Amino acid sequence: MKGKFITFEGGEGVGKTTQLRLIREYLEDKGVDAVFLREPGGNEISEKIREVILDRANFDMTGMCEALLYSAARAQLCEKVIRPALEKGKLVICDRFTDSTFAYQGVARGLGADKIETMNNLACGEIVPDLTVFLDLRPELAFRRKGGADENDRLEQEGMDFHLKVYEGYRLACSRYGDRIVDIDCSSEAEVTHKKIIDALEQRGILTR
Ligand code: TMP
Repeated sequence: MKGKFITFEGGEGVGKTTQLRLIREYLEDKGVDAVFLREPGGNEISEKIREVILDRANFDMTGMCEALLYSAARAQLCEKVIRPALEKGKLVICDRFTDSTFAYQGVARGLGADKIETMNNLACGEIVPDLTVFLDLRPELAFRRKGGADENDRLEQEGMDFHLKVYEGYRLACSRYGDRIVDIDCSSEAEVTHKKIIDALEQRGILTR
């Protein structure tokens, strides 16, 4: 496909929102036309699925139900939004993608990495990121920096054990998909992390200097 597809990944409170804002501003300054999406969401049907997944009233949801809902939202996003944009040659940047399901449902919820890999392949087919930016920060540090978990978010309300497993899941994804994932240490200030991300995008030929 003509375009390039970049995804951003990481646990809660690692500064993903800030980094996405910084890269958006950077690209706007350079006059690069990019499509920004978030998962789960990015189109009407997937946003509705997002509401179901994140609703605290749905505390009884099984891990498998959760994984399939994320995959359903992603299948819709891939076919209706990401593929057409890539075919037009756009740069597509997505806030979370398949590695989130791998880390959260596959490892943290214990559904199994192989099972989730199969599910991800089914949902996305050939839509695979050209580069995944993993914002690497241990959860103890991330929550301290963030000042605690959001009480309206069902997933953030999980205990520290869960978030440590999510981190483990991302580490496993980094070793399994090392050719596509770049591990960015983000324990320093946001501007330092931003610079590392731009360097990684330039090194991979996604952005030019
Ligand atoms: P956000 O905090 O980046 O908006 O993401 C929403 C929540 O959904 C977050 O707790 C991570 C979780 N999530 C999964 O558990 N599996 C997935 O596949 C995705 C995309 C998100």
